[in-house]
Amino acid sequence: MYEIATTFLPPVCRCSTSWQKMAAMSMMDKPDAGHSLPSSEACERNKGPIAQVLREWLPAGAQVLEIGSGTGQHVVYFAQTFPDTRWQPTDTGDYLPVLRARVTTEGGKNIAPVAELDVCRPVEWAACFDTVFTANTVHFMSIEAGAALFRVAGQALSENGLFIVYGPFNYKNQFTSPSNERFDAWLKSTDPERGIRDIAWVDEQAAAAGLMLQGDIEMPANNRCLIWRKGAAD
Ligand SMILES: C[S@@+](CC[C@H](N)C(=O)[O-])C[C@H]1O[C@@H](n2cnc3c(N)ncnc32)[C@H](O)[C@@H]1O
Repeated sequence: MYEIATTFLPPVCRCSTSWQKMAAMSMMDKPDAGHSLPSSEACERNKGPIAQVLREWLPAGAQVLEIGSGTGQHVVYFAQTFPDTRWQPTDTGDYLPVLRARVTTEGGKNIAPVAELDVCRPVEWAACFDTVFTANTVHFMSIEAGAALFRVAGQALSENGLFIVYGPFNYKNQFTSPSNERFDAWLKSTDPERGIRDIAWVDEQAAAAGLMLQGDIEMPANNRCLIWRKGAAD
């Protein structure tokens, strides 16, 4: 039976709870019908191309931890697209109400109840996921939080597990497009600690977390999908 990491789950799920029991719990939180949820247009555009990458890389029956699930559009779509996989959506406090509402109203049985996860909060991790996925998070985080993201992924992954990261990255400290440069300026105007990171820097964080780069895939709109494997020697 599928058992999810219990160390970071909300109090109601802290015991060693089965997948089926948690799915039943999530139904209790179902919000009123008729309310439209916030949606990201970028998610709608990029979910198809990301799914093509996932189709190639996700292990059969993957147990996926998503970090920074945001509006929940990705987890709902990927769980529908890959029905043999199981997904654990997470995010920090501010995003949780919308994420919970989307998962409970639109999500299927292969999505666990949303869990709160701030990568900067020290927690004990059970290495029980074979895949960790995150989209558009690294550049929204400070350097410290970005480094913590890789540590958390490394701890959450079982041996040979994959860390799949979607978003914009720089190469040799150069932006890959004028639009990414403008985006970086906008990010820094919202918070000077945010910014598009260099591929060399993220790979250093990954290596420190025991992850080896396996793929760097060009995506639409000057984004990349970076894929690391835990413990891979080559
Ligand atoms: C631009 S949103 C991306 C959301 C979604 N993944 C997407 O692609 O639309 C950035 C996400 O990073 C998350 N995030 C920022 N700092 C975080 C942290 N310290 N721990 C976990 N998630 C964090 C935010 O809560 C938010 O969900």
